[in-house]
Amino acid sequence: MAKAKRLGVLTSGGDCAGLNAVIRAVTFRATRTYKWEVFGIRDGTQGLMSRPLDYLKLGHNTFIGDVLRAGGTFLGTTNKGNPFAYPMPDGTLKDRSGDVSDGYHELGLSALIVIGGDGSMRIVRRLAQQGDMKIVGVPKTIDNDVRYTEYAVGFTTAVNTCVDAMDRLAPTAASHHRIMILETMGRDTGHLALNSGIAGGADVILIPEIPYTLAGIVAKIRSVQEEGRNHALIVVAEGCRTEKGEAVTVAQGGGEVRYGGIGQYLSASLASQMNSEIRVTVLGHVQRGGIPSARDRVIASAFGVHAVDLVAQGKFDRMVAWHDRGVIDVPLASVVEGSRVIDPMGAIAQTARGLGIYIGDDPH
Ligand code: F6P
Repeated sequence: MAKAKRLGVLTSGGDCAGLNAVIRAVTFRATRTYKWEVFGIRDGTQGLMSRPLDYLKLGHNTFIGDVLRAGGTFLGTTNKGNPFAYPMPDGTLKDRSGDVSDGYHELGLSALIVIGGDGSMRIVRRLAQQGDMKIVGVPKTIDNDVRYTEYAVGFTTAVNTCVDAMDRLAPTAASHHRIMILETMGRDTGHLALNSGIAGGADVILIPEIPYTLAGIVAKIRSVQEEGRNHALIVVAEGCRTEKGEAVTVAQGGGEVRYGGIGQYLSASLASQMNSEIRVTVLGHVQRGGIPSARDRVIASAFGVHAVDLVAQGKFDRMVAWHDRGVIDVPLASVVEGSRVIDPMGAIAQTARGLGIYIGDDPH
């Protein structure tokens, strides 16, 4: 009897809700339809780098219980272990890319499904080219900034979390006649802030793609007050810059910098011009956790099934994507060329303007 094909699956980069639903769909499709074996690689590419290899054989029984419903990834992940510049205990960086491809071949994999964001896709594509690995990508990220897909797994759950926060901030803002600033994640894009701000009833939404002025924010809050409302909500994406164009970051160990602090900057800059108190909420990693929304589970399932079908058809170096109410696949080479940003004149930005939300100064 011919040996069953062996499929690997791993999660890479920052976690989000819905990753387990992708792993489940990959496992069910591969084992039930194609009778393949499936190996879940632990902690991203790190599991293939480790000796002994760090993996878990997946089957139907893996998903008994609440795995589908749980946030995070039961395989583990990392957004720090780039195999081309792997951080060693002595503080140096080492190229360990060869260990990953050796691990892939040692495990006898026929293909590897990588659930990741654009950064992970860039890394695994390079690994695949160098180490003769067959890769199919599945996009996930709360930032929703992966090119060619309308939705990445995890985005809608994160939007729901932000909206839930706004639903809680609005009544306390009203009770105290305050201005509430909510700082969201999203890295260099404003998908999370803009979608959440519209759904959560913000008066001001600031995103990295559209410049703003402090005077514009003040004018909007004053007009809200003139309309007779004594409180207001401002949503700001972490990647927004100061009015002068400076990034607001927090230094981490090892020279790493991370976004954070734009909410406090706005509060300090607006305080003297406002006759209301201002409070800042930084949602942080709450946005990455939580029970995946039904929408994320559906998208995750569709992605997982399609990714396995691509492997069955021998189509590699591609990423599954959500487009026009269905799943398509696109070349990874085009995906990794850049990030998907908000179109300042696109439908979502225009919706915000149409509602009278201040999202920055009008480009016209
Ligand atoms: O890319 C996802 C994301 O959550 C960003 O929105 C955020 O800037 C970053 O990851 C946070 O990374 P870490 O988990 O390393 O703090």
